[in-house]
Amino acid sequence: MPKEEFKVTPWEVKGEIDYDRLVEKFGTSHITPELLSRMPGADENLFLRRGIFYSHRDLDWLLDNYRRGRHFYLYTGRGPSSSTHLGHMIPWIFTRQLQVMFDAKLYFQMTDDEKFLFKDQLTLEDTSRATYDNMLDIIAVGFDPSKTKIIVDTRDIKSLYTIALRVAKRVTFSTAKAVFGFNNSTNIGSIFYTAIQSAPAFIESEMEGTNVPCLIPCGIDQDPHFRVTRDVAPALGYYKPALIHGKMLPGLSGGKMSSTGDAALYTTDSDAQIRKKIMNAFTGGRSTVEEQRKLGANPDICPVFHHYEFLLEPDDSKLKKTYADCRSGALLCGECKLNLLSKVLPFMQKHRDNREKAKERLDEFMFRSGDD
Ligand code: TRP
Repeated sequence: MPKEEFKVTPWEVKGEIDYDRLVEKFGTSHITPELLSRMPGADENLFLRRGIFYSHRDLDWLLDNYRRGRHFYLYTGRGPSSSTHLGHMIPWIFTRQLQVMFDAKLYFQMTDDEKFLFKDQLTLEDTSRATYDNMLDIIAVGFDPSKTKIIVDTRDIKSLYTIALRVAKRVTFSTAKAVFGFNNSTNIGSIFYTAIQSAPAFIESEMEGTNVPCLIPCGIDQDPHFRVTRDVAPALGYYKPALIHGKMLPGLSGGKMSSTGDAALYTTDSDAQIRKKIMNAFTGGRSTVEEQRKLGANPDICPVFHHYEFLLEPDDSKLKKTYADCRSGALLCGECKLNLLSKVLPFMQKHRDNREKAKERLDEFMFRSGDD
C-alpha cells in the first residue's frame, strides 16, 4: 500500500517519509551489505548497522581510493536557526565516528547566511546568536580540534567566495527552479545560496592545490544541494563529492508529522521539560491498557521507539526485545517512556557538561584562512 504523500526538501520535511522511495526519487544508491563490509568497523557502528545512514553517492569510489591510500576529508554543516535538538545531533555524532574511523579532517559549515535568507522572521543578530549556541553543541560532540575547522559563512566568506562564484556561474536559474522549487517571488540571495553550500566540498582541493576526495555525511533532505555541486564539479576540475545520507529522527508528537522540530528534545531543555515531552509523546500504542495487552502496539510508527533505535539503545538484543515486547503487548507505553527517560537524562547531562566546556574551546575550532 503506498504511503501518504510526503515532502522532503532542504527546507521542508513533512509527512510519513518512505525512505526507499526517496532513494528512487533522488537517484541515490542504497548502502549494500557488501559496501558496508568495506567500511572499517561498520558492524560496531549503530547508524550503519541499523541502516540509519542508509543511502549514498559514490561511496564505493571513495572507499576504493581510500584502500589505495588516498585520504579523503569530511564536510558537513548546520543551518543555525534555533537551538540544537537530538535530531540535529545524529549526523554530527555519526560524522565524529567517521572522523575516527578514517582519521579524517573535517570542515563544518555554519550557514548563518542561509537561515537569514530563508527564514523571514530571522535577523542577522538572531542567526549569529544561534551560530554561537549551535557551535557549542557541535564541539560538545567531541570532534578532534586538530582535525576540525568550523566555517561560519558570514565570517569566512572570503575563503568561500571565489569557489562559490565559479559554481554559481555554472548553475542556471532554471536548474535552481527545478531543483529547489524557486519561483519569481523567491529572494535573489536564496537563489545564489546553493553555491555557498557547494564551496566547502572543494575547499580542501583549493587549499592543498591538488584534488582531495570529499565525503559529505548529511540528512537525505540535503541531497538536492549536492546534486548541483556534483553536476558542476567536473567542469570546475574537481572530484564530485561523495555523500552518505541519513534518515531523520521523527519528532515526539508523531501522528502525521515527521518533522523533528515538533516536540523535539533540545539540548537547552531542562530535565523537567524533557520529562514532560517524553511523557506526552505520541506512541504506537492502543487507546486502552486492556486493548494493548491483548493486541500489542506498533513500534514502527512510534517516535519513542525510534529514539531508542536511532541513538539511545545501543544494544541490539535489547532493542529487539523492546520491539517484540511492544508488539506482543507485554510492554506498555508508560513503562517504555520512563525507560527512555532514564536513558535520555544522563545523555543530556553529559552533553550539557561538554557544552559548558566548549565555551572555552571555540577558538581551537575556528577556521583560519591563510591570511588571518
Ligand atoms: N543546509 C544545512 C541546514 O540547513 C546546513 C549545511 C550546510 C549542511 N552544509 C552542509 C548540512 C553539509 C549537511 C552537509 O542545516
